Amino acid sequence: MSQGLLSTAYLAAGILFIFCLGGLSRHETARRGNLYGIIGMGIALVATFFSVQFDGVYMWLFGAVAVGALIGTWLALKVEMTSMPELVAVLHSFVGLAAAVVGINSYLESHGGHGAEVTIHLIEVVLGVFIGGVTFTGSVVAYGKLAGKIRSKPLIMPGRHMLNLAMIIAATVLGVLIVQGGMPHTQTTLVYLLVILGISFFIGWHMVMAIGGADMPVVVSMLNSYSGWAAAATGFMLSNDLLIITGALVGSSGAILSYIMCAAMNRSFVSVILGGFGDSGGGPAAGGAAAQGDLEYTSTSIDETAERMANAKKVIVVPGYGMAVAHAQHPVKQITDMLIENKCDVQFAIHPVAGRLPGHMNVLLAEARVPYDIVHEMDDINNQFEETDVVLIIGANDIVNPGALEDPSSPIYGMPVLEVWKAKKVIVMKRSMGVGYSGVDNPLFYKENTDMLFGDAKASVDGILTALGNFLKS
Ligand code: TAP
Repeated sequence: MSQGLLSTAYLAAGILFIFCLGGLSRHETARRGNLYGIIGMGIALVATFFSVQFDGVYMWLFGAVAVGALIGTWLALKVEMTSMPELVAVLHSFVGLAAAVVGINSYLESHGGHGAEVTIHLIEVVLGVFIGGVTFTGSVVAYGKLAGKIRSKPLIMPGRHMLNLAMIIAATVLGVLIVQGGMPHTQTTLVYLLVILGISFFIGWHMVMAIGGADMPVVVSMLNSYSGWAAAATGFMLSNDLLIITGALVGSSGAILSYIMCAAMNRSFVSVILGGFGDSGGGPAAGGAAAQGDLEYTSTSIDETAERMANAKKVIVVPGYGMAVAHAQHPVKQITDMLIENKCDVQFAIHPVAGRLPGHMNVLLAEARVPYDIVHEMDDINNQFEETDVVLIIGANDIVNPGALEDPSSPIYGMPVLEVWKAKKVIVMKRSMGVGYSGVDNPLFYKENTDMLFGDAKASVDGILTALGNFLKS
């Protein structure tokens, strides 16, 4: 393939990736956005394949790509929506490792030369190896924490900020020595590069180990951003324009998402990176209402819940992680249809970090074909709870915790939440009085206008569907 054709194909792919991101920013256009992304990636792959002479060692690459594609397809088909963040974290780790390996290879391959071009190339190598290393171990730890293989309690080492600073200074000094050494490399400068890689592995591990469970959503999107910058650095090293464009798009969109999520959790980006938040270790945190041990809750039944809903003029549904685990979204949609037919105003309230990945609830509701115009973001619906007869909380916990607003001793204090307790009646569907992701007890469960409906969310929603049907018929 000629260079001109390759550049045109890369340009077209880059433009499609931009359309893809634009499309993904709204429910209505997300499907089309995804399609643009798939077409863009298809063009990029085909153009890259045809730009290389397939002989000798490249034939091995073909095999490796085929095996990788098969494993990727199998993983994507079998992964549960709730395990998506783990998969994303693993994929980020591959991008990081690839950037580090490409950086080292590019350094080993570099021959003599002087001047600005060599300096720039060596800076790319050092940055690529460093960012790639941080992304690799950071993503592996994020995977471990999300999958419950590593405890989510933050690891707080004494003098950790000084340690991180010392590591960054050491890596910078070694990087300067590598750039000053020029090309070709020597044994000593190669060792410097490997030490930088070791330091970056340590920083990635240490940084994410120090971050508590409650901040993990931000960490995943931050690592997403790092993986983009690592890919962009690889693009510079390989002189591949498309990789630079794609890496910059992923890097900047990940950074913007991290910022939005920090704002949603009322956290500053710097305090997330510095870690130590969410240090509750998975058990109920001090300061929660139930920590006093003398509070009582009331429970309700499926029939009672259905009757309340049949008589309600306005219902707001708040889905959370439990709805995703139980796969309860389809019967929830059927209940919604029934209520709307009964002239009830039904709305859905979505917290920005509900579930386990950005947009988790939106995807599930879209899959169940809940109309977009009754699905609202937190800021748009928080003022509607006061005029609501029944709030139905399906497997949500942290995102409706009043302690986040009222209890300064709560570890999630300051995080904006859905103010469901302002409604006339709140029904919480979950299996037990257990805590949610951040391990914080929830005073909502003990409020006078709250009833607990215990059981698996799918079984409860199915039961309400049948009971509601009977009520409305009679
Ligand atoms: P959580 O606070 O984790 O609460 C979910 C609740 O669902 C649990 O208390 C659990 O109680 C219940 N549950 C689990 N399985 C269930 C089932 N089969 N049937 C019924 N209930 C079930 O979820 P949330 O309110 O959606 O808040 C999200 C949390 O995850 C936040 O802390 C957020 O920071 C964090 N997080 C979010 C993301 C993103 S990007 N969204 C990523 C990582 C972490 P029982 O065990 O008693 O049933």
